[in-house]
Amino acid sequence: MPKIVTLPGDGIGPEVTAAAVEVLREVAPDLTFEEHAIGGAAYDAHGDPFPQRTRDALEHADAVLLGTVGGAQNSPWNSLPRPMRPESGLLALRKALGCYANLRPVRVQPGLEHLSPLKPELARGVDILIVRELLGGVYFDGDRKIDGDTAYNTMRYTTPEVERVAKMAFWAAEQRKGRVTSVDKANVLEVSELWRRDVQALRDREYRSIHLNHEYVDSVAMLIVSDPSRYDVIVTENLFGDILSDLAAVIPGSLGLMPSASLGDGAGLFEPIHGSAPDIAGKGIANPAAAIMSAAMLLRHGLGRSDAANQIERAVALALREEPTRDLGGQADTKTFTNAVLEAMGTPVG
Ligand code: NAD
Ligand code: IPM
Ligand code: MN
Repeated sequence: MPKIVTLPGDGIGPEVTAAAVEVLREVAPDLTFEEHAIGGAAYDAHGDPFPQRTRDALEHADAVLLGTVGGAQNSPWNSLPRPMRPESGLLALRKALGCYANLRPVRVQPGLEHLSPLKPELARGVDILIVRELLGGVYFDGDRKIDGDTAYNTMRYTTPEVERVAKMAFWAAEQRKGRVTSVDKANVLEVSELWRRDVQALRDREYRSIHLNHEYVDSVAMLIVSDPSRYDVIVTENLFGDILSDLAAVIPGSLGLMPSASLGDGAGLFEPIHGSAPDIAGKGIANPAAAIMSAAMLLRHGLGRSDAANQIERAVALALREEPTRDLGGQADTKTFTNAVLEAMGTPVG
């Protein structure tokens, strides 16, 4: 009986996580669930955005399903010392699980091109996997400070950090079209110079069947929306990957369609890429598709159950056709959409 630790978090996190759990219970009745606190809700309840009891629960987890963390711009959480803020809880969670590679698929399913603001001929068939480095760069470097009118953060990467995430990207590309684009800013940054050198050297040493190219992040920000079909797997450092993946959400049509799997040393962490959406939290109208598709990634990557994962993804595509949510220009609220997914799971294939 695999144990799933759920961490609903803040804002719409509990709403979309509940939907994902409902779907998981349906396709995998043997799973057990244990809910724990993370983020602002955890700070309010336990004085810590990543409390010890949550940390302890991870020891026996087979996989972790996360909602979202964080408050609105004016939330009192944003005035706390940085380590006490909701976002720090999430970063500490990723670190504790050793999840150094964040897989963020960007897919336009057949028949869902109309949900994209792009011209249908541009959106059709898009299938990109963004592999975002998740434990390094400016997010984690201890060399950081704000002092009066001066502040700095440090972007630092080591060869082993670059190689482990690049391996994940090459491995993923081997199961796909065999193409990897490594994204950097090597025309300006030393850290990108090292990144580019190490990714290329690894390809030349161990992955000669992979077609690897290198592109600058500013150019990719334009090309990913104007010509998305040129990409198969994209691998990039933490901050670039964060920004490019929200941008890439434009292709399927909403942040609510962007799931992710964070993989590494131990149990995987499965999380939608969107935030806590304070503007719509508590209204029951959040699109739970990203959370539900993250649950599918949990089954595939966390538990090795690809059939169940495929079943969920197929049902989500059907539900998006029948009952699109408001962020996609439709009418469905969270419950209506989730019910449509549950119903579609009972529909025979074909
Ligand atoms: P956001 O992703 O929460 O919201 C951006 C916009 O997208 C909003 O208009 C929101 O309503 C909409 N949106 C996002 N997810 C949606 C969904 N599932 N269905 C329908 N609409 C959706 O980004 P933000 O407003 O910049 O950040 C809000 C808070 O979330 C901040 O505290 C931020 O730090 C945090 N955040 C957390 C995560 C995470 O937990 N992984 C990710 C990003 C941001
Ligand atoms: C994400 C979020 C987080 C990140 C924040 C909330 C720490 O934006 O998961 O994309 O930047 O990684
Ligand atoms: Mn983000």
